[in-house]
Formats: sequence, C-alpha cells, structure tokens
Amino acid sequence: MSYQTLEVVADGPVLHVRLNRPDVRNAFNGVVVDELSAAFAAVDADARTRVVVLSGNGKSFSAGADLAWMQEQAGLPREANARSAERMARMFLAIARCKKPVVGRLFGHALGGGTGLAAAVDIALCSEDCVFGLTEVKLGIVPAVISPFVMQKIGVGRARTLFLTGERFDGKEAQRIGLVARAVPMAELDAAVAKSVGELLSAGPAAVASAKELIRTVGPLSLEDAIPVTSAWIAELRATTEAREGFAAFLDKRKPGWMA
Ligand code: COA
Repeated sequence: MSYQTLEVVADGPVLHVRLNRPDVRNAFNGVVVDELSAAFAAVDADARTRVVVLSGNGKSFSAGADLAWMQEQAGLPREANARSAERMARMFLAIARCKKPVVGRLFGHALGGGTGLAAAVDIALCSEDCVFGLTEVKLGIVPAVISPFVMQKIGVGRARTLFLTGERFDGKEAQRIGLVARAVPMAELDAAVAKSVGELLSAGPAAVASAKELIRTVGPLSLEDAIPVTSAWIAELRATTEAREGFAAFLDKRKPGWMA
C-alpha cells in the first residue's frame, strides 16, 4: 500500500509507521486520519507484522490536529462535520484496538492529538524533553475525541487540571502521570524502543494479543465478576499450541519456537 502522508517500512516482524508531514510538525488532516486508519487495519490483517512502532519524521512527533483542516471541517454542513469528527475518533480506536502491540516513539512535540496518539498506543516511550499538552482549550476547543484514551492513562483527576489549563509538560512529567511508559534522554530513545520491541518479540504472539484483549475485558469488571471471565480465560489459553510450546521450551531449557 502506498501513502501520501505516512512512511511505512517493514523491518522483519516490526512495522515502522511514521507520520510524514514534517513541514507542519506532523499535524494530522483528513488524509492522515484515513491513511492511519487504513494502515492499522492492514496491520490487523498482516500475519508477518508482530509489533508496530508509531513515530514521526522531522523535528516533532505530532502537533496534533491540523488547524487549517479543523477550520475547514468547522465550515462543513453539520452532518459532514460530524462524520469527519467520527472518522478522527475511529483512527484513535484503530490504533488502541490494533491486534498487534503498538509502541510509540515520541520526541519534540506531542501536542493535542499528538498527546492523544501517545495515549492510544500500548507502550509510549518519549524523550525527556518531549513537550506534551492538551492544548485544545487555548484554541477554544476541547480534547473531545482523545479524552477517553487520555483519561484511561492519566485518570479523571489529572485530566481536570490538564484539560482545563491546556498547560504544556515535559516527558518526565508524562511518565510521572502515567501518560507514557518511560521518558529517556533523546540519545537513548531508539535503544529504549528497541528494548521494548525485543521484549514483545520474545513473548508468544498469541499471548500478547490475548493480554491486550484481557486488559480491555477485565478493566471494567468488579473482582467478583472477573472470576468466571479470568478463570475461563487461563483455562483456554494454557491449552493452546502456543502455551504448550512455551511450557515445553521452559522445561526443556530451550527457546520457544516463536523466537527461533
Ligand atoms: N496545524 C497546522 N499547522 C501546524 C500545526 C498544527 N497543529 N502545528 C504547527 N503547524 C505549522 C506551523 O503553522 C508552521 O507552518 P509555516 O512554516 O507555514 O509557518 C509549521 O508547522 C512549523 O511550525 P512552527 O510553529 O514554526 O514550529 P516550531 O518548531 O517553532 O513549533 C509547535 C512547533 C508544534 C510547538 C507549534 O507549531 C505549535 O504550538 N503548534 C500548535 C500545536 C497545538 O496546539 N496543537 C493542538 C491542535 S488541536
């Protein structure tokens, strides 16, 4: 598949998806929204890809929604405006629900929807000086479509400060509040990404997909309601071919087949 606004490069089982509008700091317009949604749908259907790394070309990861595009959408008839907003919301969902684990490599700026992308990926890694912010209120709007993804990571309490003030914060703070998994000096960012990718590749592919699904399913359940779900889950999973190989490899003191 070829894209106008993305650079998509496969490196064995790792697919690198890079936002590619460096002149506007990778701000996303309707083309990016449609292309990112298509790229993540393609990942779901591609058996070769085991891990996705989402990053950006140029000085910054992403300056969020393209404000010229936002202005255009505002001028559309009500229905068309609503459809375009829903497509944007579904792009974040396509990333969050991707069947393969998604690692974010964030640097420079990750503002507005850029912070939303950090929240949508599974494992966000950033440079310590990366600038985040739910800056929408400074523009007279709100971080609406990204709010569920961001609040899942930082919680309602922190959202009450950050959504209302639109204040900017750095990568270290993003780590402290749980928006990113880890902030490292820029010179160490690629090594941090490589380490996470290595960890994911050494895990059973079906188990990683199942873990992602487990979090989504169990998250909203009470401890009591979780019992039938989680016990059925492990009973089924430990009988799979992949689990049998994982157990056998450990007991035989060898690497499992998926690492060969
Ligand atoms: N939408 C559209 N264009 C954007 C953009 C956005 N969100 N963010 C940056 N750009 C454009 C700038 O207009 C500029 O275009 P120009 O070269 O034609 O003047 C170009 O990208 C570079 O931006 P600039 O501000 O000159 O670069 P910088 O490195 O000094 O600052 C940012 C980068 C990201 C800090 C700054 O551009 C910014 O604050 N952008 C808005 C971020 C934001 O609030 N996003 C939330 C959207 S809901």
